[in-house]
Amino acid sequence: MSDIEQLVLQATTEFAGIGDAAALEQAKARYLGKSGSVTELLKSLGKLAPEERKSAGAAINSAKEQIEAALIARREGIRYAALEAQLKAEALDITLPGRGLSTSGLHPVTRTLERIEALFRSIGFDVADGPEIEDDFHNFTALNTPENHPARSMHDTFYLENAPGLLLRTHTSPIQVRYMETHKPPIRIIAPGRVYRVDSDATHSPMFHQVEGLWIDEDVSFADLKGVFTDFLRNFFEKPDLRTRFRPSFFPFTEPSAEIDMSCVFCDGNGCRVCSHTGWLEIAGSGMVHPNVLKHVGIDSEKYIGFAFGMGPDRLTMLRYGVNDLRLFFDGDLRFLSQFR
Ligand code: DAH
Repeated sequence: MSDIEQLVLQATTEFAGIGDAAALEQAKARYLGKSGSVTELLKSLGKLAPEERKSAGAAINSAKEQIEAALIARREGIRYAALEAQLKAEALDITLPGRGLSTSGLHPVTRTLERIEALFRSIGFDVADGPEIEDDFHNFTALNTPENHPARSMHDTFYLENAPGLLLRTHTSPIQVRYMETHKPPIRIIAPGRVYRVDSDATHSPMFHQVEGLWIDEDVSFADLKGVFTDFLRNFFEKPDLRTRFRPSFFPFTEPSAEIDMSCVFCDGNGCRVCSHTGWLEIAGSGMVHPNVLKHVGIDSEKYIGFAFGMGPDRLTMLRYGVNDLRLFFDGDLRFLSQFR
C-alpha cells in the first residue's frame, strides 16, 4: 500500500471513530488544514521531477477527495445521530394517561332560577327580562315612588357618572313596568335578574338576585296570590306541609302590601337558629298592584287588577342547600361551587 493510500485509510478510520462534531473538525484540520498531511503532500509536489508531478498530483488529489467525502459523510452521520437523540428525548409519551375533561356544572343560584322558571312556566307564566342599567322612571317613578319619596332611601344604589337619571336597578320591579308598557292584559310573568344596592355583609351582597312575579287580569285576587305563592314554595322545597304567612307591610307600588313568610324548612316551624327561633323565614314582598302603577303604563285600573311579588332566589338557594354565607355564592371559589355539580 502506498503512503497516500495509507493516509486515506488512516483518515477515514479516524473519522469513523469520531462521534462529536467539534472533534471531527479538529481531525479535519490535521489532514486538510493549512499544515495538514494532505496539504503538506501537495506542497511537496514542487520538489518532484516534472515527469513525476502529474501522476503524483492526481494521486494526491484523489486522496484529498476521498478524505473530504469521508469527512462529509461523517458530518452527516453525526448530525443525524444528534437529531435522533433529540427526537427520542422530546418524544411525546402517548401512553401517559390524559388529564381528561372535568365536568362543569351550573352555579347554585342558576339552578334555583331554572327551577323557579320551570315551576312558574308549568302554571302558565312567561319569563320576562329587562336592563340592569335602568332609568329613574322605571326603577322608581312608574312604581309610584316619586322623587323624594322616603322608600327611595332604602334603595341606595350605584348611579352612573355623566349619565343623569341612569342607575343600576335596585329591584326587578321595573321589569313589571317595561312588560306592561309593551303587552296588554292578561299578563302572567316572572322576571328573574341581578339587582344592586349599597349593602355588604354575610347576608347582603351589593349584587344579588330577585325574581319578580306579576299577574294582571280582570279578576285576579289576593287569594290567587296566596294560592300561587304557597303552592310554588311547597313545590320548590318539596314540602307539601310548608305553611305561609302574609304579614301586612308597605310597598309604594302595591296596595294592600304583604311580606310573605314561610314556615322554617329546617325546623318545620318549631324554631331553630336559622329562623332565629321564630319558626318563620321572610321570603318575599308582595301585594295587589297599585292603580297608579297601572295608570303609568296605560292600563285601565277600573277594568284590570292583579298581584305582584318580588322574592330573593339567593336566599332560597341558601335554604335549599343549607349554605349560611351569601358571599360564598359570589366569591367564585371552585372548591365551593364544584360541590353543586
Ligand atoms: N321590589 C321590592 C323590593 O325589592 C320587592 C317587592 C315587593 C316586589 C312587593 C313586588 C311587590 O313586586 O309586589 O324590596
